[in-house]
Amino acid sequence: MSSDRLTVCRAAHPLRGELTVPGDKSISHRVALLGALARGSMQVRNYLCSEDCLNTLRAMEQLGARVCRDDEAHPENFCLHGTAMQPVAPARPIDCGNSGTGMRLMAGLLAALPFSCRLFGDESLCARPMKRIIDPLALMGAQIRACGAKPGCAPLEIDGTRLQPICYELPMASAQVKSAVLLAGMLTQGTTTVRQPALTRDHTERLFEHFGIPCSVSPDGLEIAVCGPAMPVARDITIPADISSAAFWLVAASIVPGSELCLRRVGLNPTRDAIIRVLRRMGADIRISNRSDSGEPYGDLTVRYAPLHGTEVTREEIPNLIDEIPVLAIAAAFAEGRTAIRNAAELRVKESDRIATTVGNLRAMGGQAEEYDDGMVITGGAPLRGTTLDSYGDHRIAMGFLMAGLAAEGDTTLLRCRNINTSYPGFADHLRALTD
Ligand code: S3P
Repeated sequence: MSSDRLTVCRAAHPLRGELTVPGDKSISHRVALLGALARGSMQVRNYLCSEDCLNTLRAMEQLGARVCRDDEAHPENFCLHGTAMQPVAPARPIDCGNSGTGMRLMAGLLAALPFSCRLFGDESLCARPMKRIIDPLALMGAQIRACGAKPGCAPLEIDGTRLQPICYELPMASAQVKSAVLLAGMLTQGTTTVRQPALTRDHTERLFEHFGIPCSVSPDGLEIAVCGPAMPVARDITIPADISSAAFWLVAASIVPGSELCLRRVGLNPTRDAIIRVLRRMGADIRISNRSDSGEPYGDLTVRYAPLHGTEVTREEIPNLIDEIPVLAIAAAFAEGRTAIRNAAELRVKESDRIATTVGNLRAMGGQAEEYDDGMVITGGAPLRGTTLDSYGDHRIAMGFLMAGLAAEGDTTLLRCRNINTSYPGFADHLRALTD
């Protein structure tokens, strides 16, 4: 996407057709990290070629992993040659761009590798809390300094060293913090255990299994133990389409009358699928077909327009759909009645303060939304008016409000939306294809 602004008008016709959204962001980051340390080579298919995940892949090349593409028309497919746990010190600081996942997970690995390095990112990333990973990693003996202008924030300087295993109780439900500790634990002699207050996405645990890392998960899924040091063994992998990207179209088709969309091979990991459950509870017509349940489950989603009504999102559902909340708020604005999204204070430390940016933009469109410290309450049903909105450099705010624009009166313009490229390259083409 070259332009930093996008405009949509109310869809002149229903949204119809088939889409394959790009590969899953969370899984792509993790595949790059684990594949880079693995013994052997693996074929990676459908890697997310977004700025965030390409930054992580380039970082792994700085550590000595090799990426070989034999079809330039399909950069999402490549062979990844691992370093067999013999990475080299990066010659330059590592650029994490806009990605909290990239920086936090990489910090877990780098803390336990025998060299020093510096991680930096863009303005948004340098304002996001890093103390949440520095604290548990420091308990393991890690040497990490947060040198940003804002206390506890990036850039990070890491002097890699031998770590000690810990048992760590996570103070918040965060897959990034959990994964940073587990990745450090994978490189550490002994058993590192993490206990989380609620279920969060379990891609790291599933990939540990895929790559042969000894890891056990308690029956309730809340406690994870990894036994290190362990070397991942390279094994081919196909990454499903990202449910967080598919969510934009699930909502768009649900609010534009007459629509019917089919989304192919979307990841349906049970720690990520609450958006489907919550939208269905609101009355959405979403059907799953061609389900596959091995490794990371996936399936095709068919969504048809259906009138929506409000709902209460439960505390347990929040971590499962944390990234989909901006677009869920759009669905709520078009749903009859009240939708409450609380216990979601984590939204304040995403790429933007997503409570403030979602509520502010909804109100600017004439929607009824109340802001709370830990979330929002939206009363839907009244028509929204298109206007010019700031995306605050936040990809999910940009895409979410463009979906609102498809069902609002007049034109809706999103400013500062270049960062859509951090998670969904090709989004503008998909939008054009469905609305032209
Ligand atoms: C992610 C975890 C979530 C999510 C982020 C991706 C991951 O963040 O919001 O987009 O891949 O582990 P937190 O762990 O901070 O909740």
